[in-house]
Amino acid sequence: MEKRGCLYEGKAKRIYETDKPEVLWVEYKDDATAFNGVKKDVLTGKGRLNNEISSVIFSLLAREGIKSHFIERLSETEQLIRKVTIIPIEVVVRNIAAGSLVKRLGLTRGQRFDQPIVEFYYKDDELGDPLMNEEHIRVMGLATEDEVASLKEKALEVNEHLIELFKKIDVDLVDFKLEFGRDISGKVLLADEISPDTCRLWDSKTGDSFDKDLFRFGQGNLQEGYETILARLGGKS
Ligand code: C5P
Repeated sequence: MEKRGCLYEGKAKRIYETDKPEVLWVEYKDDATAFNGVKKDVLTGKGRLNNEISSVIFSLLAREGIKSHFIERLSETEQLIRKVTIIPIEVVVRNIAAGSLVKRLGLTRGQRFDQPIVEFYYKDDELGDPLMNEEHIRVMGLATEDEVASLKEKALEVNEHLIELFKKIDVDLVDFKLEFGRDISGKVLLADEISPDTCRLWDSKTGDSFDKDLFRFGQGNLQEGYETILARLGGKS
């Protein structure tokens, strides 16, 4: 596979074309951003950790029958993915109250829900990724009703598998964000990444965070938290 020109550079990744039109080459960066880019830093090793963790998780989900854009990990910081057009909807699933939900509704941080909560956010940096509902998605023509139902169903299915996966390594899956894209045939595939950048992960015994909150709120060393997750998942450290 040959790496060609850079197609897109985001906050955490660079995406390159390859000699195959349906395959893209992703490079994970060490840049860390929070609060829609207001807080920034370069954290050595973060790109490697997210690439490794996301590769392990997408591979485990594939074994459970959940298809994603992930093809293979190429190196410590690179992976190959199927080309999709990202649907500009961030799908957040919450099992335990934290983050913006606590701020918005005044719930108690740490409250466990009987049923997971699914939320949609409009993926738009200028607007600050606002919360949206299914009516907004319909009016804005971002996805069909069937697609929205499928996003929700797939997100809940991923949640079931991730809860189990993290339970085995003594980690509570608090919440996470997923992105989806349409492939060339229009099929909706799980995309982007699943890593401590996009999930809240708490040690089930101590409640310690192993995720991006370490950086967001200066709670501790981000790389140490991510290394713990990678090591517990059985990946290289
Ligand atoms: O900030 P909030 O509580 O809404 O985040 C919910 C979950 O979604 C967290 O795990 C957070 O890391 C993730 N998220 C994300 N990218 C965003 C917004 C939230 O990965 N743009």
